[in-house]
Amino acid sequence: MSRELLVQLARRTMAHAQAGTQPLADGVREVPVGNYTDPDRWQLEIDRIFKRVPLLLGPSCELAEPGSYRALEIAGVPILLSRGADGELRSFVNMCSHRGAVLMEPGSGSARRFTCPYHAWSYDQQGTLVGILDREDFGPVDTSCHGLTPLPVGERAGLIFGSLTPRHDGQRHTIDLDAALCGYDAVFEHLGLADQHLVGRQQVDGPNWKVAYDGYLDLYHLPILHKATFGPDYSNKAVFDAWGPHQRSVQPDHRMAALADIPEAEWSQKQLTSGVWTIFPHVSIAGFVIDRPSHDSEQPGDTRLQMISQLLPGPDQWSSVTVQHFLAPFEPTAEEQAVIEE
Ligand code: FES
Repeated sequence: MSRELLVQLARRTMAHAQAGTQPLADGVREVPVGNYTDPDRWQLEIDRIFKRVPLLLGPSCELAEPGSYRALEIAGVPILLSRGADGELRSFVNMCSHRGAVLMEPGSGSARRFTCPYHAWSYDQQGTLVGILDREDFGPVDTSCHGLTPLPVGERAGLIFGSLTPRHDGQRHTIDLDAALCGYDAVFEHLGLADQHLVGRQQVDGPNWKVAYDGYLDLYHLPILHKATFGPDYSNKAVFDAWGPHQRSVQPDHRMAALADIPEAEWSQKQLTSGVWTIFPHVSIAGFVIDRPSHDSEQPGDTRLQMISQLLPGPDQWSSVTVQHFLAPFEPTAEEQAVIEE
């Protein structure tokens, strides 16, 4: 996508910033409390949303190297991501085909083979069963039928998206990200996530997943709840743009108003991609600036970290977990890593 769309969006936000306004809905829309507390509704959300639509599985940069893998769990489904020696990323149910043991403990690393901790069956990076301990005691086993169960997976703009439900139509790794992302990936590609480095990760426990997710859609709270970090003068207004169910919100604040003094051709990527980028149903991406000790002033954008928040429902409607991945456009020195972790 050309830079022109981002410029158009910035012009609109700048106009609101200059006028001190924000777009408003036609009327008040009330959301019933039961939408957040009803256990039957919560189960439907798991079954019809989290187990059907592509979900974020993590940043591509973590699995950039052939042979890298990551084991994780989403909505109760254990997942194993594996970047093969051929460079292709594959996703599997992280479960041994012998007696269903979890194959790899949650975490990431590099592996040529995945060996089950229960009876030591082993699988290669393509999920093929390649080793059976004391195989002669089993009689004939068709290993081609006992590989890991593939899951649909794909990558866009530096992010890995996958489905929790296996396909049975012969396209077992294929996922339709064009339909799911509605062109949004061509816009958030300008965040440059594909070229970044994973510099940190943390996990935050929270309430019902939609209560937690609402916090990423609501900029109204920023100068109040976050006054110690962003400051009390931070704008609480927002301009929204949507691509299908995905949306980006930007504050029409003094920084956007100041664009009027800069020729459009000089509006930076950082200015054009500011705001909070949410990806339905459970992702938020927001940038923030750190004080980089060895900052090169000729690269004004390189101190911005991206925080990718991956919101996951807990075991019931009352809880959630948010995994926050921190990406930087540079490989930090030990000193910079300490600043980031602070
Ligand atoms: S359950 Fe994995 S080898 Fe037996």
